[in-house]
Amino acid sequence: MQRRAPEIEIVADETALAGRLASFVAATATAALAAHGRCDLALAGGSTPKAAYGLLAAPPYASRIDWNRVRFFFSDERCVAPVDDESNYKSAKTTLLDPLNISEDAVFRMRGEIRPAEAAREYAAILRRELEGDADGTPVFDLVMLGMGPDGHTASLFPGSDPFADDLLLVRAPYVEKLATYRITLTPRVLNAARHVVVATAGPSKADALAAVLDGPRNPSLYPIAVLEPHDGDVTWLVDAVAVAKRAPR
Ligand code: 6PG
Repeated sequence: MQRRAPEIEIVADETALAGRLASFVAATATAALAAHGRCDLALAGGSTPKAAYGLLAAPPYASRIDWNRVRFFFSDERCVAPVDDESNYKSAKTTLLDPLNISEDAVFRMRGEIRPAEAAREYAAILRRELEGDADGTPVFDLVMLGMGPDGHTASLFPGSDPFADDLLLVRAPYVEKLATYRITLTPRVLNAARHVVVATAGPSKADALAAVLDGPRNPSLYPIAVLEPHDGDVTWLVDAVAVAKRAPR
């Protein structure tokens, strides 16, 4: 199967990125609802998607999409309580889920407040129970939203740990040396089983990693986001002008 090259869309700045990310998520969700009656969405953590979440929770998207048929999962989570300001769940709840009055039944959070390994096992079981599987039995998301750190990490797949380790796992709980903490994260196996993956990244701090990932040799150990190679799905990069400033001239 010839893998599709990633789509790369360049927008002017972070404000434009938020608008484009919101329209991308809305269009992908609408297509999933039309195709099979529901949309299983893995939300990204970090700060970049917050503005897009706010746009999705406001007119016109709030009324344009049948949010009752969208289910919300997470690409990764910090090992904190759900009320902690560091929690990706809390961030999504505040900016998107509560404003849209999303039922708790449609939200599947990673429990950052319990033992990391147990939280990973629990979430893998949730994915197996709730999502349809592909030919390998890997749960399939309609859309996985991701960001990228300045070091090329994505979700909670950080440099320094083999991103393909435990490749049969669906969810992992790595200890992240540079943060001196555990995290809970979807694995490359799940990311690459998704129908669509969107990576939204902006700002000058991401420029070196972005140039290395998009133009350099594939090196997932150094830049874990390089694991992205969906088997049948596609990857769309939404990036702002300063984040692509260091790419080689095309
Ligand atoms: C997290 C995210 C992480 C994030 C990147 C980019 O839990 O922090 O999953 O992978 O997407 O670190 O973060 P920003 O969007 O804040 O730059």
